[in-house]
Parts: sequence; structure tokens; C-alpha cells
Amino acid sequence: MANKFSAPRGTADILPEETLLWQDLEAKTRELMRVYGYREIRTPIFEETALFARSLGQSSDVVQKQMLNLAKNVSPGQESQEDGGLSLRPEGTASIVRSYIENSLDKKEGLSKLYYVGPMFRGERPQKGRLRQFHQIGVEVIGPNSFHPYLDAEVIALSVRILEQFGIKDFELRINSLGSNEDKRNFSTVLRERLKKDMGKLCPECQSRFERNVFRVLDCKNKECKAVVAKLDLGDAHLSKESKEYFGKVREALGSLKIRHTVSPQLVRGLDYYTHTVFEISHSELGSQDALGAGGRYNDLVQELGGSEGVGGIGFALGMERVLLAQPAAELKQSIDCFVVSLDAAGEKKASSEAFKFIEELRAKAVTADTSYAQGSMKSQMRAADKSGARYVIIIGEDELRDGKYTLKNMHSGDQEKLSFSEVLARLLKK
Ligand code: HAM
Repeated sequence: MANKFSAPRGTADILPEETLLWQDLEAKTRELMRVYGYREIRTPIFEETALFARSLGQSSDVVQKQMLNLAKNVSPGQESQEDGGLSLRPEGTASIVRSYIENSLDKKEGLSKLYYVGPMFRGERPQKGRLRQFHQIGVEVIGPNSFHPYLDAEVIALSVRILEQFGIKDFELRINSLGSNEDKRNFSTVLRERLKKDMGKLCPECQSRFERNVFRVLDCKNKECKAVVAKLDLGDAHLSKESKEYFGKVREALGSLKIRHTVSPQLVRGLDYYTHTVFEISHSELGSQDALGAGGRYNDLVQELGGSEGVGGIGFALGMERVLLAQPAAELKQSIDCFVVSLDAAGEKKASSEAFKFIEELRAKAVTADTSYAQGSMKSQMRAADKSGARYVIIIGEDELRDGKYTLKNMHSGDQEKLSFSEVLARLLKK
């Protein structure tokens, strides 16, 4: 027997019984996005590797360890700008900012309120809630006038409303401010000073992070590093007066929307582009991969990627697999309007051929109709009808062909009646 194939490690098939939940998640989210004034953007699932290195940071874990690069396929003499390599997108922000700049959206609209839904790729060690191909719902608001505390609060509120809409309650929203780029530099100096005496206790990776990107020490999952970090009393001394005021206004605005949150000075996020407000939403029941979503402001990214000065942005992404894991159990079923049972006389095909045409006519009127082509007994066809969840069964046999009327059975009440095609249709269209 030939070897069977399996889905690649860290990927998952989403089977029909689950896709209904995915569709529900997408449909309700899209509706909420519409209500909040966000429009969908779709960008390619791969980009130049350099885009991610420049945005997320060369020293970020994602760029250092998790990029899934495409094999190069360039003939000699045909080298192009892409020769630095292409990678599957590990997240959406970099691509969306790239697209924003490339398509001069700043010239076309004051504030671009964008959302996206789709797969992301990270070469991580797979475990529950952590995949190599996973899906995000994300938003990015970019524009020259986007540096407004109400916008930070709107974006955070939207992420919370999405979760609430799916009945997810026990989540924790933590927020922090990294301040401006200059504040971030102060922050890293303060951090280095505080961590210096405990250098020996940090894992070898954090010891190298200490110089390269000291913020990463705060995200380290190593037990000893976590213990060192837990003892740090960070506060907000690194923030300028303006940054503190801004953050205060964001918190006030969240309060006015009754969005519960805690301030967590340890929260710095693993990607380099963040400035000012950052946030993360976690859910204790998800185990070690407890982040449902996260986001923050990135006031310098547009300029760093070659766009205009003074164009800031803020956004978030929710992990769809994790939202579905955290959602209270829900069962959705795709049912049909009617199932057609046909019973041919011995040696004939009249009933089944009539049924075949009949179903197509029903479908043309947008009635969902189906049948089982495996021509079995009445009993086996009724079993299939039951399984399909159809509201009605239509029976076509010798009697029905002779009378030119079909038997319509209401599967809920068990009532049966003989009707013409137009009467059947009227009954089926009456919801
Ligand atoms: P992130 O924190 O890297 O942020 O990812 C956001 C969410 O995606 C996580 O909280 C998690 O729910 C989900 N996620 C990440 N990696 C995996 C994985 N391997 N398997 C399953 N789910 C995962 C970003 O991606 C930023 N782009 C968010 C953002 C948008 N910031 C500003 N705008």
C-alpha cells in the first residue's frame, strides 16, 4: 500500500464540522468591523524577507527563529530586489504598512481604518494553541492624524467587543506604554541597569539579548529569567511628561467605555515597531499559549519603511484558533430545506430521473435540496434524509409519477401531503 500523506507539522485541516464556527467568527467580526468603520484589506501571504526584518526587528524572536522562507528560484542574470529572499508572512502589520505606503493611501484618505482576516506563518514548535500556520483577525489604523488617545481606546475596545460577542468573558486585558522612541531608549538603559546585578541568573539567550535587545528579556519564558523579571520594579519613570499624559488619556478613555484593564509595566511585546500604547489580552484557560490577541501603537514604522514623516498607526491581531478555543462550546449545523427520496419501479429509472431534474429546479429557486445517489430502499433513503437535517422530505415513486403530485413530508411534525410542484415550492419557501 502506498504511503499516506499527513498535513505538515504545525498545520491543521479545518473540517466541514468546524468551518461553520470559523464562518460564524468571520461573519460576526466583519459586521462589527463595518459598524466601527473599518474596511478590509488583502495583501499577499508572502513578502520580501527584508520587510519583516526591518519592521519586526532583526533581533526579534520571530525574525531570528520563526521565519518560513521560500526556496529561491532565480536564474542567473535575473536577480531582482527579491533576491534578499521571500518569506511567508508571520504577521500582518508589516505587509499592511508596506501596502499603505506603496499605494499612497495617505494621499487618498485622512485615516485608513483597515482590517484583515487570514493565515499567518511562523516556524514555531507546535503545541496546543501554537501552530505554524495559524489565522489572525487584525486591524491597523494608519494616518497622519492617528496619534489620538481616543483612537487607542477605540482599537482596544474593538478587540474586546469581538471577544465579548463570542461569549468570551474571563479574559484579562493588560496595557502599558513604551513611550516615544526616545523614551524607549531611556527604558532600555533603565532595564539594563536594573538587570545588571542579576546577569548571572539569566539564561544564555537573555545574556545575549541584554546587549542586542534588552526588552526581550521581559518576554523570556525561562523560569529563572521570569523570577528575575518579576522582582523588577519598573514603574513609568522612563516616560516623558507628554507620554505619561497621553497614556493617562488612553486609560481615561478606556474607563469611559467601561473597558476593564490592568497596567502592566512588564509588558513590552516581542516586536520592535511598537511605541507608546501596547496591550495584550490573555485567557487563563488556554494554558501556556494564553494570548488571545495583542497589539499596540507604531508611530515610527511608516517612516522607517520609507513612508512620510508623522504618519502613525495602531492595531491589534487576535489569534482565531485561540478565540475558538476560548469560546464557550457552540454547535452549528448546516441543514437543508429538503431531501428528495426516489423509488424506481423494477427495471426503470423514471422516478430517479424525475427527482434529479426536480432537485435542480428547486435549487434554481434557492431552495437547498439534496438526495443520496445511492439508490437504496425507502428506509435507507429516509435514514440519509434524517442525517441531512432536512426540514422536509419529498418522495417520488410510482404513485407520485402517475398522479403528477409529490409527497411532501414535514420531518418535524411527521405530516404528509400530496402537492404539485408549485405547491411544494410555496411550502418550502415559507420559512
Ligand atoms: P502577535 O502578538 O505576534 O502580534 O500575535 C497576535 C496573536 O496571534 C497572538 O496573541 C496569538 O493569539 C496569535 N498567534 C501568534 N502566533 C501564533 C501561533 N504560532 N499559533 C497560533 N496563534 C498565534 C502580531 O502579530 C501583531 N501584528 C499585532 C499587531 C497588529 N500589532 C499592531 N497591529
